Amino acid sequence: MARSCLPYELFQDRKESLYYGLNALSNNLIMVDRKALKNPNGLILGTPGSGKSFAAKREIANAFLVSDDDVIICDPEAEYAPLVERFGGQIIRISPSSSQYVNPMDINLNYSEEDNPVALKADFILSLCELVVGGKEGLQPVEKTVIDRCVHQIYQKYFEDPRPENMPLLQDLYEALLKQEEKEARHVATALEIYVTGSLNIFNHRTNVDITNRIVCFDIKDLGKQMKKIGMLVVQDQVWGRVTQNRSAGKATRYFMDEFHLLLKGELASWSVEIWKRFRKWGGIPTGITQNIKDLLASREIENIFENSDFIYMLNQAAGDRQILAKQLNISPHQLSYVTHSGEGEGLLFYGNVILPFVDRFPKDTELYRLLTTKPQEVAV
Ligand SMILES: Nc1ncnc2c1ncn2[C@@H]1O[C@H](COP(=O)(O)OP(=O)(O)OP(=O)(O)O)[C@@H](O)[C@H]1O
Ligand SMILES: [Mg+2]
Repeated sequence: MARSCLPYELFQDRKESLYYGLNALSNNLIMVDRKALKNPNGLILGTPGSGKSFAAKREIANAFLVSDDDVIICDPEAEYAPLVERFGGQIIRISPSSSQYVNPMDINLNYSEEDNPVALKADFILSLCELVVGGKEGLQPVEKTVIDRCVHQIYQKYFEDPRPENMPLLQDLYEALLKQEEKEARHVATALEIYVTGSLNIFNHRTNVDITNRIVCFDIKDLGKQMKKIGMLVVQDQVWGRVTQNRSAGKATRYFMDEFHLLLKGELASWSVEIWKRFRKWGGIPTGITQNIKDLLASREIENIFENSDFIYMLNQAAGDRQILAKQLNISPHQLSYVTHSGEGEGLLFYGNVILPFVDRFPKDTELYRLLTTKPQEVAV
C-alpha cells in the first residue's frame, strides 16, 4: 500500500480523540481516535527503553478519562499497577502463591457469534492443550479429536443447567478424557494432571475475582516461563469473554498486551492471530507492545497481524529491524531517520495511510509522569 507523503497533520476533532504526541515537523498536537480507523488494532514497537510501555500507559490514562471504554492489560512485568490503582482499577495477580483465580473454562452465551459458542471455546482449549501436551510436533490428530469430543461433552452438561457453580473446570476435562477408550486420551489426561491435581493447579479453580471493573490489570510476572505462556493465553481468553459481553452492551474494550511477542510463539500464534482478526468485528481494540519485530514476521500467518493493524506507534528501532520494517511497511529512508537513534517518546506514527513523525516529551514534574515511568528512582510510591 502506498503511504501518504509528509507533511501532514493528524488532528481529529472528535469526542474521543486521544493525544499521541506532537507532530515533529509542525509542532501541532496529534489527536486521533483509533475507533475512526477501518481497523483500530494497534502495535507499539521499539527497542528496550524507547518508551513503549510509557506510550501504552499514556493512552490508557487518556482513554480512561475521555471515553467510556473498558481497559484490560496483560502485564508480564508487573509495571502497570500504580496507574491502574490510581484509577481505582482492579489488579489481578496470577501466580503460584496467589489466591486470585481465573478459570480457563469460563464461557458465556455470547462467546461466539456462531450458534455454538462451544466450537470457539474448543479452539481455545486445544491451544491450551498444545501448550501443556504438545511436544515438537504439537497435538496429534487423535489427541485433538478426543479433546474436542470431551469439551463438547462437558459444556453440554453445563448448558443444561448453566449456573455459575456448574461452570466446568480443567478437572472436568481431565475426568472426561480418562473415560475415553483411546490411549491418546489417557496421554493427554496424564499431561494435564499436574495442572489439575498437581503443583501447577492454579488454573483449576472457579474465577473468584471481579473482572468487571472498568480497568483491569492481569499481573502475571510471578508465573514461571512455561506457566507465563499459559497465563497469557488464559488472560486473552478472559478478555475475549469480556469483549463479547461488552459488545452486547454496546461498549468498546481496549486490550493492551505488553511483551506481545510471547503470544506469537509456537502453539500460541494461531490463537493470537485469530483473536486479532476477531477483535475488530466485536468492538475490541487490541494493542500489542513488543521489542521483537522478528517474531511479528515469523510466519505468513503472524504477518496477518501487521496487515490487520491500522495503528502503529513506532519508536526507536535497531538497525536490523529497521530494514525489515522499511520493507514490510513501505517506508522511505527519510522516514526511517525518525526511528534511528531517536530519543524516548520519539518516532513514527502510522495512522491508516498517514505516516507522521512525532515527539512526546512528557512533563516529568507531574503526578501522571510518576505513574507512567519505569525508572526505579522516579516511580510513584
Ligand atoms: N514520552 C515520554 N516522555 C518522557 N519520558 C519518557 C517517554 N517515554 C519514555 N520515557 C522514559 O523512558 C523510560 C522507559 O520507557 P518504557 O518503560 O516505556 O520503555 P519500554 O520501551 O517499555 O522498554 P522495555 O522494552 O524495557 O519494556 C520511562 O520510564 C520514562 O522515564
Ligand atoms: Mg516496557
